[in-house]
Amino acid sequence: MKTYIINGGNKLEGIVEISGSKNSALPILASTILCGRDYIIKNVPDIDDVKMMLEILILLGCSAYYEDGSCYINTKNLNTYDISDKLSKKLRSSIIFLGPMLARSKKAKITFPGGCDIGSRPIDLHLNGLKELGVDIIEDGDFILCSSINTNSCDINLRYPSVGATENLMLFALSVEGKTRILNAAKEPEIVDLQNFLVKCGYSIEGAGTDTITVFGLKNTNKNIQCDESVEYNIISDRIEASTFIALAASTNSRICIKNADKRNLTGIIKLYREAGCLIDDLENYIYIVKKDRIKSIGRISSSPYPGFPTDMQAQLMSSLCCSDGVSYIEENVFENRFKHVNELNKMGANIVTLDNIAVITGVKKLHAADVNVRDLRGGAALVLAALSAEGTSVVNNVEHIHRGYENFASKLLNLGADIREI
Ligand code: EPZ
Repeated sequence: MKTYIINGGNKLEGIVEISGSKNSALPILASTILCGRDYIIKNVPDIDDVKMMLEILILLGCSAYYEDGSCYINTKNLNTYDISDKLSKKLRSSIIFLGPMLARSKKAKITFPGGCDIGSRPIDLHLNGLKELGVDIIEDGDFILCSSINTNSCDINLRYPSVGATENLMLFALSVEGKTRILNAAKEPEIVDLQNFLVKCGYSIEGAGTDTITVFGLKNTNKNIQCDESVEYNIISDRIEASTFIALAASTNSRICIKNADKRNLTGIIKLYREAGCLIDDLENYIYIVKKDRIKSIGRISSSPYPGFPTDMQAQLMSSLCCSDGVSYIEENVFENRFKHVNELNKMGANIVTLDNIAVITGVKKLHAADVNVRDLRGGAALVLAALSAEGTSVVNNVEHIHRGYENFASKLLNLGADIREI
């Protein structure tokens, strides 16, 4: 178990560089098995989830290594269609290998990926969409065997704009001859990044970022399966990491300059924190946040699919509202169990009450240090933000959750003047 020891109360100041996007890198790394070729994926964050994806690629027979911010991958020697034992409970997003594996190998064996800390995480939208494209799916106990011999392009209407289902269906549809449209598709910037990567690989796909994505699939020809030209691609910066540092400035009355953020993907968050009383300058390549006095309450906000308020920022926003000047309501509509940080924040003196999927945060004067436990990635970031604003020395346990998705989090905070050490 890894732990942060944090002495809170310091005003923070300085520049923080935002890393590449975790939620863009993971599907793009999985997409490299679509066609056996060389890939150099740049601006990839050095985080545990990326390490696990590279380990899976190696277990599938590919070569893959991480060096100096880039992933060097060759998938020519993919030698299995069985990703069942690799779909470890630890890495939910490995389900994203399903679509490209079916496209490349025409078969895939997976297990139902387990639920995780924030919800049951079903995959019915993935499987139903694949069935509509003609994939044969047999459930045998905990295993699912898929084969894509007779496939047909079609319109797929997603019941819910699932990010993972949209990605898996985009990737599989590339191997289905004809025009497939994914309707009610997820519109997250990471979906656009995946499409841009696929276009760079030579595929025909358009519409990402809107609710209709059109894939012009090709029956797997040799060109699709093996290719000699390598592909080089730069991942977008991580909008959730950038938003987390905006929430940090708001929580600790600090002046922080955020570098390498893509402000086009941060308009909602910037608007929200300006309304809460932060002075924010969003320049070309920098975002300056200054927060002097108490943050204002934000009334009521609900998480929803992009471009709505991101569920991945719910915990961090809640943390920055703990010492606000009024009552705020946060409604979590995306995952059914994403309030695990509430009890831990209350241990630090916050006044948060939850009823079903609504959290009511009544601002208090100050938070105090406590011994708290991290239960998931974003809740962990929220607890660190709270500990940095609280008086006294906090102990934040199980920070390995944070290592999954934030690159060099503690050292970035140290560089801003935080008193934090990892043991
Ligand atoms: C992606 O998860 C992100 N992960 C999540 O980020 C993010 O919170 C989520 O999208 C929503 O934006 C990656 O990109 C690796 P979904 P994903 O499918 O694809 C239900 C983080 O902290 N659903 O859009 O798993 C599901 O239960 C992580 O970085 C079905 O019902 O999210 C959930 O309630 C956490 N059936 C909702 O849809 C399905 O087949 C959204 O899930 C699929 C999903």
